[in-house]
Amino acid sequence: MNKLRVAILGGGGILPSHLEGFRAVADRCEIIAVAEASSSRDEFLRKAIGPEVRIVRDYREALALPNVEAVDILLPHHLHMPATIEAARAGKHVLVEKVMARNVWECDRMIAACEKAGVTLTVCHDRRYHGEWRAVKEIVSSGMLGEIFFWKLDHNQDVAIPKSSWAYWKDGIGGGCLMSCLTHQIDALRWFGGEVEKVSALTVVRPGRMEGEFAAIVAAQMKSGALAELSINWWTRSHRGENRLWYELIQVCGTKGELYRMDGRGVFLRLHEADEAAVARYGEAVTRDFVEIKTEGESGHVGCIREWVDMLLGRGGRVITSGRECRGTVEVAEAAYRSVETERTVALPIRPRRWKPFGMPLEVVGLAVSRTTAKD
Ligand SMILES: NC(=O)c1ccc[n+]([C@@H]2O[C@H](COP(=O)([O-])OP(=O)(O)OC[C@H]3O[C@@H](n4cnc5c(N)ncnc54)[C@H](O)[C@@H]3O)[C@@H](O)[C@H]2O)c1
Repeated sequence: MNKLRVAILGGGGILPSHLEGFRAVADRCEIIAVAEASSSRDEFLRKAIGPEVRIVRDYREALALPNVEAVDILLPHHLHMPATIEAARAGKHVLVEKVMARNVWECDRMIAACEKAGVTLTVCHDRRYHGEWRAVKEIVSSGMLGEIFFWKLDHNQDVAIPKSSWAYWKDGIGGGCLMSCLTHQIDALRWFGGEVEKVSALTVVRPGRMEGEFAAIVAAQMKSGALAELSINWWTRSHRGENRLWYELIQVCGTKGELYRMDGRGVFLRLHEADEAAVARYGEAVTRDFVEIKTEGESGHVGCIREWVDMLLGRGGRVITSGRECRGTVEVAEAAYRSVETERTVALPIRPRRWKPFGMPLEVVGLAVSRTTAKD
């Protein structure tokens, strides 16, 4: 069987999670090149992928390799759009790490370029492929929680970013922690509960930490009428230490029951009213107390890469995070920023607007600078 030939663009912090995924499909996919601007990563790349892996310094060099069929983009957020457009023009299928792009204007150009070139565009929103998050989706979709009226999803990290990193700057990250990582929660909310009707948001900024916000709260009303409370906090150690508490939390409340997922603890269900099917599946105890739900242990990145590779090889991979699907996640985040700017509730859909640069210093942009013209 011919193996799928992939190039990875960007060999930084998230790469090991992707390599775990590629190792799981090594019988049908090979990494033939990595584009990584910094030579300090060479030793790691050769050890992790193999001594023969081709390393190039700029992502465009990898796009010029004729034997590359697909690319996995792990670049800074401001490069997601130009790298995707250039990959599409070179005829390569694209997997791009979350967040898809800095705004919907950029997402639209990525989608159009891939559709025009006849290549696929997939976003690595890893949570949708994670066993525990899939279990939440399955229970929610079964209807056993009744009418869902309340969602709460949060994300906690301790992220202090130096000014030398793209991620410190609004232009690099696409705003702040809300666009960078609350998009995990926004994407899951849309997947679990359908589309968002309107949002209202607040953020906290402290330039010693990063240029954009390091904490944010988004209140949303879903098209279903349910309320959603989403928050991100990049200045907490709740997930660290021996007595760590939690990293991400999901709470779903319905008229017939409630469901929780706490990172490190698992998925728990309690039903106020249980039908025969629910009792047969989870036991009588589910009506008296929380019952832990058994889930698959696979990481989201491993699941996403397997489905992506199998889709491209025509082996029936189930990709559920196309560019068209994930555009809506960026739209909710962008609407939240517009709510912060205007101090008003913002209804969706929003009108796309081109990214207005805030002035990321050139020495940070460095090699990462894009030569793609504005009309792209
Ligand atoms: N799913 C998750 O939980 C998760 C976690 C972390 C990061 N991410 C995502 O992964 C992506 C990358 O983040 P990261 O933390 O790995 O960032 P990073 O800064 O560690 O890595 C980015 C790499 O790109 C390289 N680079 C920059 N410009 C380049 C160019 N022109 N050509 C080739 N290489 C270039 C940099 O040298 C750097 O090593 C982002 O989209 C981020 O949001 C996802």
